[in-house]
Amino acid sequence: MSDPLIERLAALALDLVVDPPSGDDPVVQFATPTELVAAFEDSVGLAIGDDAPAHGPDDIVAAARTVVDHSVRTNHPRFMNQNFAGADPVAVVGDWLAAALNTATATFEIAPVFHLMEATLLTKLAHLAGYPVATPGGAAPDPLPPGLFCAGGSMATLYALQLARHRLQPDLVTVGAGPEPLAVFVSASGHYATGKSASLLGLGTDAVIAVEIDADGAMAPGALRAAVQVALEAGRTQLAVVATAGTTVTCAFDPLHEVADVAAEYDIWMHVDGCYGGSALFSADHRHRLAGVERSDSFVWNLHKMMGMTQQCTALLVRQPERLAACFSTGADYIFQPDKQFGEWDSGDRTFQCGRRVDALKLWLAWKAHGDAGFAARIDHAVAMADFARLLISASDDGFATIADTGFTNIVFAWVPPELRPLDLGSLSEADRSRLHRLAPRVKARMQSEGTALLGFQPVHGLNTFRLLVMNPTVGPHDVEAVLDHIARYSAEEWAQSA
Ligand SMILES: Cc1ncc(COP(=O)(O)O)c(C=O)c1O
Repeated sequence: MSDPLIERLAALALDLVVDPPSGDDPVVQFATPTELVAAFEDSVGLAIGDDAPAHGPDDIVAAARTVVDHSVRTNHPRFMNQNFAGADPVAVVGDWLAAALNTATATFEIAPVFHLMEATLLTKLAHLAGYPVATPGGAAPDPLPPGLFCAGGSMATLYALQLARHRLQPDLVTVGAGPEPLAVFVSASGHYATGKSASLLGLGTDAVIAVEIDADGAMAPGALRAAVQVALEAGRTQLAVVATAGTTVTCAFDPLHEVADVAAEYDIWMHVDGCYGGSALFSADHRHRLAGVERSDSFVWNLHKMMGMTQQCTALLVRQPERLAACFSTGADYIFQPDKQFGEWDSGDRTFQCGRRVDALKLWLAWKAHGDAGFAARIDHAVAMADFARLLISASDDGFATIADTGFTNIVFAWVPPELRPLDLGSLSEADRSRLHRLAPRVKARMQSEGTALLGFQPVHGLNTFRLLVMNPTVGPHDVEAVLDHIARYSAEEWAQSA
């Protein structure tokens, strides 16, 4: 039975996948909040008031078009704003399929295929990370997979710290946390998920100790051991070290073997935040960046970042997966009945959430469609395009200065006016520094308003800098050139106006 409204909405969505924007198409048709509210006035209005009426198909489709018109095209090759971009079309449609089947990955009885898929994928991912799992092959996977899919990297960090705390204090679940002050170590450029998790777990953000970093944002050698010693002397119990494999801004990789050595020496839980850089494991040329991850206790990997899975697709890998049940099982007998068939597969009794959305299907379909080689190609392409940007930034006469560069998918750089070239951050006058600092937000706002490109900026070494990162396999040299041209031109104009 066909329903014209459903078909029209589905066609609108499909069109975004089969005909993605490119080149000079706008990345965003920018509108202010007031303009956005007004944009819905021609169809259904944004507000849902009392006695909200039902609208007809034409109005609903018109409203959906308004949504599309004003949404950011994260699959545009000049969307370089975030460490996700360029959703894989197979994954997008795979996600629709999962939505159409609408179930929850909680019990085998309501999600039999997805339990097997999750276990298959987690085993393969754990194998890539070097965790002690059976080599993935043809047989049915183990009902206790080496981890779980969960709702994003921040949630996975929360899980990992709770697992670490449970290891320190096995009666944690029943009696609650003890009073002794704990310490969690993460590099100064690590993601804020560690601090938020510490606060939510009742450890307090004071428990989080920022470990010194090098100029490009990786944990400095020796700094972790020194920080652990200081915390020990202050009477804190060492809970966990969170090493980052791909920091958000510079994509720096902490030295995982060194971190693992310290974690082993002091008996500390080692968690690796590979939300961003974990996908380097797919590439023979880049997996060395994560050498040592196989020694960690837990590892989070966001496949919705570099791999283009739709938001969200996060794998939390756990070296000793039985810890999940020890920490999160409730044994609720109205859903995890001990006497039902295949109950040993029920993942819901190993997780904090009851039902989880199906994130496995899109990844499984994409992996089957592209194979290991296709996944590797996605990483290698991103680095090749970043290398091209590197070349342009270092060789151009446009006044770019590299501020941090770890040689992977990111380059952090500034535009420098002729009178300040070559840039020497140490000898900039306060007036010049502050004038230069105000440039990046203005250039970004201009690109955003015109829809020419979207690119992040953030302070690095005290100066607002641009972050060019490549995630989308459709980014070509022409896109990189165009984005850098815009930045150089707008920067020169804004600098002149700020005199
Ligand atoms: C290094 C790193 N860790 C953790 C996260 C948080 O992941 P999520 O947005 O899935 O919570 C991010 C997100 O950008 C990240 O870059």
